[in-house]
Amino acid sequence: MVEIELVPEDLSNEDNTSYVEMSKADIWFLKHLLKKYNPKKIVEVGVSAGGTTVNLLNWKDDNAKLYSIDISTQWYQDETKSIGFFASEYEQQEDWKFFKGKDFLDVYKEIGDNIDFIIIDTRHAVPGEILTFIATLPQLKDGCIVVLHDLHLNMMYINEDIIDIYYNIASHCNALLFGGVSSHKKWTVKNDPMTNIGAFVVDDTTRENIKDVFHILTSTWEYFPDDLDLDAYDEYVKEHYSTETYNLYSNCMKLQSKLFNLNPKIEFSTDKK
Ligand SMILES: C[S@@+](CC[C@H](N)C(=O)[O-])C[C@H]1O[C@@H](n2cnc3c(N)ncnc32)[C@H](O)[C@@H]1O
Repeated sequence: MVEIELVPEDLSNEDNTSYVEMSKADIWFLKHLLKKYNPKKIVEVGVSAGGTTVNLLNWKDDNAKLYSIDISTQWYQDETKSIGFFASEYEQQEDWKFFKGKDFLDVYKEIGDNIDFIIIDTRHAVPGEILTFIATLPQLKDGCIVVLHDLHLNMMYINEDIIDIYYNIASHCNALLFGGVSSHKKWTVKNDPMTNIGAFVVDDTTRENIKDVFHILTSTWEYFPDDLDLDAYDEYVKEHYSTETYNLYSNCMKLQSKLFNLNPKIEFSTDKK
């Protein structure tokens, strides 16, 4: 594996920084990869207000198509606003398709394969982006660039002496994915040892060693993904991955489900006698 640390440059006045849940260095990183590799089929999973969507639409080639997906219909920071409201002026454009209230697996047939650039920026807590990556990989072209945001959200807040157990300590899903996935090439940003954005190329090793990513699902989950169509996930994993990998997935889902159903009955003792 070759790990490349990109040195961020200044953004231009045309680059949007409003309603983007990213630092300027992270915005530059995304722009750099998009401009350098000039993808034709781009997928954005996790839209929020739509600040990054606006950038992707402005940076992409005229003949490239962007598919944006968000599982919510309303913006989590202000539920009176629709998901992606900041990008609403682009909604009639033919080169942008926005799926609101959907997960990738609900719409993958409409998107199709040959995706050559994807940014995954959703829950940040396990199983979040692990399940999204498992769902997207069969549709990704060899050579596709996968960008993961909020790689080290958990560390960022500790660094600033802010500890919020619910959102921050558990926000290590993309760090596990970035570290656990196989690729000949990974990129991070060289401005901070705790860089918060990373990317890798999908290649033969990514597919060969994909069971390593499924193993991450055996770690303790922060939440149970009731918002996903888990029957569809089961069928999809069975169809697209090896029998061994499916068996690992299926057993893991059963045990995680059992754990979450048991949870109210579990008493964790701190008594050391
Ligand atoms: C951190 S925000 C995205 C920020 C955005 N990428 C940006 O740069 O401004 C996370 C978003 O992911 C969405 N989300 C969570 N789980 C999802 C899933 N399985 N599929 C699609 N979107 C999801 C949430 O509704 C939320 O709007």
